[in-house]
Amino acid sequence: MKKVLIATEKPFAPAAVEQLKNVLDEAGYQLNLLEKYTDADEFRQAVGDVDALIVRSDKVTRDIIEAAGNLKIVIRAGAGYDNLDLDACSEKGIVAMNTPGQNSNAVAELAFGMMIYHTRNGFDGTSGNELRDKKLGIHAFGNVGKYVAEIAKGFGMILYAYDPFVLKEDIEKHGVKAVESAEELYKACQYVSLNIPANEETIKSIGYQLLSMMPKGATLVNTARKEVINEDELLKIFEERPDFSYLSDVAPDCKDNIDSNYKGRYVFTAKKMGAQTAEANIKAGIAAAKQIVNYFEKDDTTFQVNK
Ligand code: 3PG
Repeated sequence: MKKVLIATEKPFAPAAVEQLKNVLDEAGYQLNLLEKYTDADEFRQAVGDVDALIVRSDKVTRDIIEAAGNLKIVIRAGAGYDNLDLDACSEKGIVAMNTPGQNSNAVAELAFGMMIYHTRNGFDGTSGNELRDKKLGIHAFGNVGKYVAEIAKGFGMILYAYDPFVLKEDIEKHGVKAVESAEELYKACQYVSLNIPANEETIKSIGYQLLSMMPKGATLVNTARKEVINEDELLKIFEERPDFSYLSDVAPDCKDNIDSNYKGRYVFTAKKMGAQTAEANIKAGIAAAKQIVNYFEKDDTTFQVNK
C-alpha cells in the first residue's frame, strides 16, 4: 500500500483534507497527516517511510529528502516551488510537481482585499479613494495575473501588463495593454500587482529603480514572495516618497522599521494568506492527490518541475 504524507505547517481547510483523502482512499493509498508541526525534526521523522509527499510552503530541504528513503514524488500544492530543493530531488530520482492555477483566484482576491482596505484607510471612518479609473500594472501575466485582470475589470481599473514570457496578443485578448518593459509598466501605473515567481533572476529584483518611476500615490501590491523585493531600496523609497505604500502578503523582514516610521502606508499579513481559502485548498489538495495517483498508476509526469 502506497503511503502519502501531507506535511503542512499551515494546514489545509478540513474539507480539503477530507476530499483529498477520498481520492487517495479510492486508489487504495494510505494518508498520513502532519499538521502545524513546529520543527523540522518532526517533519524528518514523518517522511521516513512514505512514497509520496504533499506540502504547501513547507521547506523540503536536502535534509528532508535524505530522510525520505522511500520517497518517489513530492507535490507542492500550490504555484511557487521555491521551497523545494529540486537538485536534491533530481539526484534521488524524485519527481517534483506543483499544481499551477489551483489557488490563483484566492491570491488575486486577496490583492484586491488589501487594495480596498488600504485605499479606504483601514476602514477608520476617514475619507479614502476608489480603484475605478486608476491604472493597474500586472507584473507578470500568469495564472494569478489573469485573475487579477478579470477582477480589476469589475472595479473599472485601466489595465497594463508586462510579461516577457507571454505573447502580446495573449495578454491583449484579455483587454489588457501589453507593455515592452518593466520600466514602462511602473512608469505608467499607480498600482502594480506583483505576480512573479521567486528565482535566481527575480530575487531582490524590485527596488529603487522601478519603484521611483511610479506615479503619485504609488502602491505596490505583493502577493508573490517577499524575497523579490530589495528591502534596503524599499526603505529608501518609503523615506523619499511620502505618497508610496506597500501592501504585502506576507510582511517584509524590515516590517518593524516600516511600522515605526511609515504608519498608514502599509498592509502586511501575519502569515502567507493568499491561498488560505477552503476553495483554493480543496482545488490544490485534490489536484495534488490526483497527480500522485496518476503518477503511480499511469506514469503521468504532467506538471513536473524538475525535468
Ligand atoms: C503559492 O505559491 O501557491 C502561494 O504562495 C500559496 O502558498 P501557501 O500554500 O503556502 O499558502
